[in-house]
Amino acid sequence: MKSHKVTMLGTGLIGLFYTLTLHGQRNRDRVEVIYSRTQERADKFAQDLGVPHAVTDMKAAIEHPDTDTVVIGLPNHLHEEAVKLAAEAGKAVLLTKPLARNAEEAWRILQTVEKAGVFAGYLEDLVYTPKAIKAIKAVQSGQIGTPTWARSRETHPGPHSAWFWDANQAGGGAIIDLGCHCIEIMRCYMGKDNRPVEVMCWKDTLVHPIEAEDNAIALIKFESGAIGQFEVSWTFRGGMDLRDEVAGTEGTIWLNHFLRTGFEVFTTGAGSEYVAEKAETNAGWLFPVGDELSELGYVDMFTDMFNAMDEGREPHETFYDGYVVNAVMDACYRSAASKQWAPVELKEWRGKGVPRIQREEELYEGKVIIKQEKMPDGRLKMILKDKQTGDFSDVVVDG
Ligand SMILES: NC(=O)c1ccc[n+]([C@@H]2O[C@H](COP(=O)([O-])OP(=O)(O)OC[C@H]3O[C@@H](n4cnc5c(N)ncnc54)[C@H](O)[C@@H]3O)[C@@H](O)[C@H]2O)c1
Repeated sequence: MKSHKVTMLGTGLIGLFYTLTLHGQRNRDRVEVIYSRTQERADKFAQDLGVPHAVTDMKAAIEHPDTDTVVIGLPNHLHEEAVKLAAEAGKAVLLTKPLARNAEEAWRILQTVEKAGVFAGYLEDLVYTPKAIKAIKAVQSGQIGTPTWARSRETHPGPHSAWFWDANQAGGGAIIDLGCHCIEIMRCYMGKDNRPVEVMCWKDTLVHPIEAEDNAIALIKFESGAIGQFEVSWTFRGGMDLRDEVAGTEGTIWLNHFLRTGFEVFTTGAGSEYVAEKAETNAGWLFPVGDELSELGYVDMFTDMFNAMDEGREPHETFYDGYVVNAVMDACYRSAASKQWAPVELKEWRGKGVPRIQREEELYEGKVIIKQEKMPDGRLKMILKDKQTGDFSDVVVDG
């Protein structure tokens, strides 16, 4: 069994989550080198998490001879530089979301790894939560028929570090930070061969004194005719709300990942403990998460990434996926500015394409069945359409 040795770039929230995941349980993949700007932070992280080397020079961290994989958990404006250095070092590179601040930068990042021929994985954890994996499989196996609509919502009271709030460093506000998750979640339900075609988006800065948006809603039209809908906010109070819904011609799936998972605790605040990411309080009714690393998808995500590396295949989430997500977000910003539908502009579409959603017509006595419903008395009511005359009628038959 192979194991991997990792250079981790960043000692912030995601560097911590990623390292805890890699070192979790009896995992064989280890962080060997940690990079931070200050020696003090690097040393503290190394000591707390059992990392042998603590380094303050990013290039040296990436080129460290003891590692084969670079995991990037740095602010968005540093992604391109870090990917370039990792590709030059010929190492596998795993990059957190969003791939970049915009599609232009994302395209350059994609080109860099493809030209270098190094393994590259896009660390979009929320499509790897145990619930998401099961729900995506259910959709792929046809359990809900053809998807017609998907909704993904991520809202919380706002990010935990200064750089997120500066649109120059982050690339935008809540759309870039949270919308990227929602878009990829919807793409997984719609099928990645289903091209996102155009976008209608509203965004505004309602509460925080910043230039970037702190709230946004978007509709994304897919090639099949299906619609995606995301809602993101940096002003939602009460913790982190992560919910997805997908509807199809044969079924519906609702998922609640964080605030209502069936685990509810009341405390006066005695013995105050960490509750969950973005929890606003540790007193009163609380909604903790059982195994946060797993329930946020980090465990299955790294398993897929390292398995893909060992098996010589692409991971389920690639840099191309990250590029498509950035292109959709660019269209969101263009639509919000113009108040019109904006096309999703892709330099290259790698999907196979999908047909328009349609179902075979079912007939009853020569008329098209629009809908059937069991009545309280057990009989079956049908709504029919006469194709010749265009008339609609009700017919009730014994069920
Ligand atoms: N669910 C997720 O996948 C998820 C969650 C959180 C963050 N992220 C992503 O991870 C990345 C980092 O976010 P975070 O929450 O860990 O941020 P953070 O602020 O908690 O940590 C950022 C790290 O980068 C370092 N850093 C900041 N500016 C730097 C600079 N100019 N040069 C070198 N190092 C610098 C900080 O010291 C810190 O170690 C972002 O791209 C973010 O979008 C992903």
